[in-house]
Parts: sequence; C-alpha cells; structure tokens
Amino acid sequence: MTDTETDVAEVVLRAFHAASHENPLARGRLVGMRVDGVDRWAVVILRHGLDADVHVEEVWSVTRGGGRAAMTVLCAIADTHGASIELDAIPLKAGPAGVQMTRKRLRRWYASLGFRQVLSSDTMIRPARQ
Ligand SMILES: CC(C)(COP(=O)(O)OP(=O)(O)OC[C@H]1O[C@@H](n2cnc3c(N)ncnc32)[C@H](O)[C@@H]1OP(=O)(O)O)[C@@H](O)C(=O)NCCC(=O)NCCS
Repeated sequence: MTDTETDVAEVVLRAFHAASHENPLARGRLVGMRVDGVDRWAVVILRHGLDADVHVEEVWSVTRGGGRAAMTVLCAIADTHGASIELDAIPLKAGPAGVQMTRKRLRRWYASLGFRQVLSSDTMIRPARQ
C-alpha cells in the first residue's frame, strides 16, 4: 500500500467516524440516515483495508433498511475522497432487524451498492470513483 492510499484511508475513517455515533451495545459505529421519513440505522465495523482503502468488517441492520442506509453513507464518503472499499460478503446471523441472507443474495445486495466480486471468492471491492 502506498502512502497516498494510507492517507485516503485515514481521511475516510475519520469522516466515517464523524458521520456516525458510538454503539452503546457493542463494537462498531451506529450510522444511518432518514429515508422516506423513516430513520434507518445499522452498526458498521470499518477498518483500514488491505487491497482497498477501507475494509467493512461487519454490517448489522438495527432498523429495517439500515444496512442500505449505512452503506449509502459510507459509499458517499468514499466517493468524496476517491476511496475504494473492500469486504467479504459472508452472511451473519441477523440482529434486531435485517435478514439472514444466503451468500448469493448478499453478493447481489452488495452488487446493488457498486461492489464487484473478486474472481469467484467472497471478497468484493467497490472501486474508487474519482
Ligand atoms: C444484510 C443486511 C445488512 C441488509 O440490510 P438492509 O438495509 O436491511 O437491506 P435492504 O433494506 O436493502 O433489504 C434487503 C432485502 O432484505 C429484505 N429485508 C430487509 N429487512 C427485512 C426484514 N426485517 N424482514 C424481512 N425481509 C427484510 C428486503 O425486503 C430486501 O429484499 P429483496 O432483496 O428481496 O428486495 C441485513 O439484512 C442484516 O443486518 N443482515 C444480518 C447481518 C449480515 O449478514 N450482514 C452482512 C455481512 S457483514
């Protein structure tokens, strides 16, 4: 990873921190927005990436549609800073909201947010948009 990539990651992590709230219940940050008059929130765990600027470790909807809202916020931050995002599209047990997805459905879900599967692995990357 080059110095420039490290800097971009740091900027995105800070912006994400500023756009989110402490999760009083566990790890991660609470992030979301109002969509169609409804507050939609998720817990997101974000860290430095290896093959991309930042890595999404976990996304948990805490209200219905929260995962999409949270990822929309994160993608907007990444786009603002020309950053790429990586993740492993492996379904987790559903929390207070959301559903237990199959791998295929989760991949489709992330694809709808601009992520592309890396070869035939679980890894997906959303390239930087300048
Ligand atoms: C994956 C996840 C974050 C998606 O979040 P989301 O913002 O709620 O998703 P969306 O609102 O875009 O909905 C995705 C689909 O799930 C359905 N859905 C969402 N919440 C639902 C609920 N509470 N009950 C039934 N269906 C639900 C939507 O109707 C939609 O169906 P479609 O694909 O047929 O249109 C969420 O389901 C979740 O927290 N899952 C458990 C944790 C997990 O696996 N995280 C991802 C890996 S880190």
